[in-house]
Amino acid sequence: MKILDYNIKKILDSRSNWTIELELYNEKNIGVKSSVPSGKSTGKNEVFNLDPDQAILKAKYIFSKIKNKDFKSQQEFDHFLISLDKTVNKSYLGGNTILAFSYCFAKLNAYFKHIELYDYFNNLVNLKNLKIKPKMPYLFVNVINGGLHAGNNLKFQEYLIIPKTNDILKAINLARILYLELGKELKKIKGNNAINIGDEGGYAPNFKNDFEPFEIISKILKKLNLDKEFYFGLDAAANSINLSNDKLEKFYLKLIKKINLIYLEDPFAEEDFEQFKKLKLKLKNVYICGDDLTTTNINSFKKADSENSINSVIIKPNQIGTISETIEAIQFAKQKNWWIIVSHRSGETNDDLIADLAYGVAANGFKLGAPARGERVAKYNRLLEIANQ
Ligand code: PGA
Ligand code: ZN
Repeated sequence: MKILDYNIKKILDSRSNWTIELELYNEKNIGVKSSVPSGKSTGKNEVFNLDPDQAILKAKYIFSKIKNKDFKSQQEFDHFLISLDKTVNKSYLGGNTILAFSYCFAKLNAYFKHIELYDYFNNLVNLKNLKIKPKMPYLFVNVINGGLHAGNNLKFQEYLIIPKTNDILKAINLARILYLELGKELKKIKGNNAINIGDEGGYAPNFKNDFEPFEIISKILKKLNLDKEFYFGLDAAANSINLSNDKLEKFYLKLIKKINLIYLEDPFAEEDFEQFKKLKLKLKNVYICGDDLTTTNINSFKKADSENSINSVIIKPNQIGTISETIEAIQFAKQKNWWIIVSHRSGETNDDLIADLAYGVAANGFKLGAPARGERVAKYNRLLEIANQ
């Protein structure tokens, strides 16, 4: 497939920061569009993103190098971009610039092959010894925001509810029922300001302590007779928390006594492979997940594997910068039988590509914020579209 034309411009993301939106056109003048999200609680080993004005200049350069070239595969295209960049963290061309090209190439190539984008991802992820069929993930729904994503007093970043079904219509319906009831309850007990929201659409009032959000959610679920329908999860994003490992661990152990917590993301700081391991050995029934620890980077995945630190991992394409490297990371994680959670970022756009990725690679979970606000809803609605086909 040949790329014949491109267009790039600045667009707003969900936090009113500028980001880039790229269009690529093939030889038949078919065009696709992609835009790039951004994180706030980013891992130190994530790719380096350029300021959008710089990224636009680099896109011009990339286009001059790829124009009219015939790329046979996603890998060939992505590796060409990586070889143009030559840096470890994609700082020359920008992780954001490279990702926009990689996303557009995937969409264009799927179109070229007359297949759905999720089938395209499914084809990429399958190996001789790894046969995966597309499958709906569990939804990891962030209904209360804290940490860097909110202006409240919660230390922990994301209070996640996980409907226990991968019937996507049922799961989304359960999530929205809880989300709406939670809004009513918070307003009742904490006043009108309590339903102001954080970066990922979850409510963000002040709480009595870091347990109270789950206590309120549990009370509502009992009242609705839905307490058997959900698991719970927490993204501590502990890198941004000023607490000792001891205190963090005490909090998690106490929390597990109170609720059916099955998922704990970044429980300790991003380089603390050892602490992750200790907790994993202690909490046999909880998925201990790496995000800032592992940054969708296969080298960190290998380290986490050799140190026995995790049994679950976050997949965010914009941490690593290309589809091909994202797929390699997923293949590694699948071969280790880790739970894979495809995730949005706190600063999002309406691009719904990650919904196709989550379904296409049969991710165990999909972390996509609250079922409200356009940039999150775009992903929920894409899952509904896929389920409806
Ligand atoms: P971020 O947060 O997008 O702000 O990095 C998301 C997460 O930590 O999972
Ligand atoms: Zn995280």
